[in-house]
Amino acid sequence: MAFDRACLRDADVDGRTVLVRADLNVPLEAGQVGDDTRIRAALPTIRDLVSRNARVVLCSHLGRPGGIPAREFSLGPVADRLSELLGTEVELAPEVVGDRARAMAAGLAPGEVLLLENTRFEPGETDNDPELARELAAVADLFVNDAFGTAHRAHASNAGVAALLPAYAGMLLEREVSNLSAVADDPDRPLVVVLGGAKVSDKIGVIDRFLELADQILIGGAMCFPFYRARGIATGDSLVEEDGITLAAGALEKAEGSGCELCLPVDLSLGREFDPATDRRDLDGVEVPDGWMGLDIGPRSATGYAGRIAAAGTVLWNGPMGAFELDQFDSGTRTVAEAVAGAAGFTVVGGGDSVAALAKFGLTDRVDWVSTGGGASLELLEGRPLPGVEALKAA
Ligand code: 3PG
Repeated sequence: MAFDRACLRDADVDGRTVLVRADLNVPLEAGQVGDDTRIRAALPTIRDLVSRNARVVLCSHLGRPGGIPAREFSLGPVADRLSELLGTEVELAPEVVGDRARAMAAGLAPGEVLLLENTRFEPGETDNDPELARELAAVADLFVNDAFGTAHRAHASNAGVAALLPAYAGMLLEREVSNLSAVADDPDRPLVVVLGGAKVSDKIGVIDRFLELADQILIGGAMCFPFYRARGIATGDSLVEEDGITLAAGALEKAEGSGCELCLPVDLSLGREFDPATDRRDLDGVEVPDGWMGLDIGPRSATGYAGRIAAAGTVLWNGPMGAFELDQFDSGTRTVAEAVAGAAGFTVVGGGDSVAALAKFGLTDRVDWVSTGGGASLELLEGRPLPGVEALKAA
């Protein structure tokens, strides 16, 4: 999917005020930014605008404050980190819209950057309130949406404002859309999709779509247990999403008539409980006895998956193979991560946990594209239109 519209690179931004919607929704730890990946991902667009003498007004949400200002959801720590990364002070406006925010935006010199407070301090943000969108648009001459992580939301600061100003896709948003779309639109074969994590329900849209597009889907993580249950296999004390059993049964049935192989693990690593010090045993099979829970895929499964990944022309990976945050149970996820990092094909990784796993194993830089989107990347992969992107196309 490409943006069939004017490109930010060709826009005249010199001396003009540009409202940039970024996704700076980062984890905070003790009042500091815990992981600045999303802030770093927003830098190319900001730096480009600064280098072209734009007056940059940034906005983003942080968490879910529910339309009420609250200190713990302030973007203050993000403004501090942005200032460090840009090497220039980024002031934080104490509000999203209003006299003070307007005055601070109007006072920007060319090349300066202002960050507005958390857009979700405004009750109209998540309702896509046209009045809030109008007030946001009033501070700027142009709008740039670079918030890929929020593109699946139709909110005032990403979708609403795009209809009111000349609107452009930022560099991150463009690259996210083109890299993720490439997996489905024109992949080199074989296309191998590796899905893990706890819930089938989170991934069923992707499974359904890729049963029609992929050559192989490799399942891992606790989401394999509803598949076993759908086949009448005992899961012991494993975490099982009960509502996922019907979904899994449907996917197994659909896979039968498709050209796509749906693979489940053939062995498991078990623990007594979800605890770093729990007893551990390897099970050469998947019938989990009572008193034990599956916490990782086993070594035969991991090696088999790694071989398929190595032979792929395109790999999409979303979701860990097990409880990789417990060192005893990280080897399935590690083997898959290393295979993705070493694959010769085009590799795309999405989802917060797989991205965290890549970081844990020091492999982030060895993947072709690591998505900053969680829900947004899944919805795009499901083939659903993203309101933030559609609003730019319509603008
Ligand atoms: C995310 O972290 O996935 C995005 O920032 C969207 O956040 P939300 O799920 O609170 O809308």
